[in-house]
Amino acid sequence: MNERYQSGFGNEFATEALPGALPAHQNSPQRVAYGLYAEQVSGTAFTAPRSHNRRSWLYRIRPAAMHQPFSQVGNGRIVSRFDQIPVPPDQLRWDPLPMPDSPTDFIDGWITMAGNGSPEAQSGNAIHLYAANKDMDGRYFYNADGELLIVPQQGRLAIFTELGLIELEPQEIAVIPRGVRFQVTLPDGAARGYICENYGALLRLPDLGVIGSNGLANPRDFQTPRAAYEDKEGDFELLSKFCGNLWSARIGHSPLDVVAWHGNYAPYKYDLRHFSPVGAIGNDHPDPSIFLVLQAPSDTPGVDTLDFVVFPPRWLVAENTFRPPWFHRNVASEFMGLIFGQYDAKADGFAPGGASLHNCMTGHGPDAATFEKASASDTTKPHKIDQTMAFMFETKHVICPTAYALASPQLQPNYFECWSGIKKNFNPERA
Ligand SMILES: [Fe+2]
Repeated sequence: MNERYQSGFGNEFATEALPGALPAHQNSPQRVAYGLYAEQVSGTAFTAPRSHNRRSWLYRIRPAAMHQPFSQVGNGRIVSRFDQIPVPPDQLRWDPLPMPDSPTDFIDGWITMAGNGSPEAQSGNAIHLYAANKDMDGRYFYNADGELLIVPQQGRLAIFTELGLIELEPQEIAVIPRGVRFQVTLPDGAARGYICENYGALLRLPDLGVIGSNGLANPRDFQTPRAAYEDKEGDFELLSKFCGNLWSARIGHSPLDVVAWHGNYAPYKYDLRHFSPVGAIGNDHPDPSIFLVLQAPSDTPGVDTLDFVVFPPRWLVAENTFRPPWFHRNVASEFMGLIFGQYDAKADGFAPGGASLHNCMTGHGPDAATFEKASASDTTKPHKIDQTMAFMFETKHVICPTAYALASPQLQPNYFECWSGIKKNFNPERA
């Protein structure tokens, strides 16, 4: 058992950094042990069905209400409006974001690539990249606009949240709930990765249908930190992202002062290497929904505002089958990233740390080189896709790139050419 984490997804956890800090029964007794204050943080409507209701009770040194007024500090890098510029129906692909050449912490290192919906409507999501080379020093952050799905690509992150410490490395992901305050330090001195900001319903594990009760991402592999706190006073900064804008307030103490907590609204991490893929073991090509890790459902049954999908190492065994992802167009829109290695549908050009965007009904699929190779491969033998970890943020809404993304020097203007070399093989006289 890992002493620092508690296992399970959406469980009712109870954890204390000092013995007896948690009240024995009531959530809000008249007096809390150690002179702590009781405070509830709710991540769903009070009246949400019990199975989806998320809230936690925090027992802390000072309540979250204690800070100076906020003033706006937008730096133009974080965007939450996605209806300002026309969205091209092109296939889009970007090289990795370069590391910053001046000291930049995790929050200053965000840049918004694309998104849809709005924080005010609590619907849709935004996709950011981050590249940072400096610890958050004397500053703390929370996002009132949505939960944050963080996918590191390079360098570890130490995410000290109100509810405990998450240590994260590439091939792991973390979800920081809406409103939870945190500070990020960089054990490796530099870090880069992807963030999906989910404005809508909370991410949850998908139902498994005919797969049965096991497989894909198993609940026991999700890890939530145990309570940890700091008792620090000083002139600190509390940053808030609220209604699409960044705000700053002075705060005279560390907000990471929760000594004990219980409930089911909490940050968690998951190691993508623990994903248990399910696939075709006879013939033909399943949809990528078989690789679904987490989903944020919409009001329409079976339709999500966000699917987080992973393409992990796995065996390909389907016979007489074109094994890489086929050519396709979807009503859904797909933003892909690569953590390391190579994605099996592309021979080159999709680098770790890079990204691609294929929007609603934009044709895409294997490039010419991959098509030729896969069409000629011997499918009587199994093939292991190894040394790779790719992922996708997929949504029912069009993913609108930002002005930054469309003007970025990392945008590959010749991406469309990867399909230009596809040969015409059609011959009506040869079946
Ligand atoms: Fe696709």
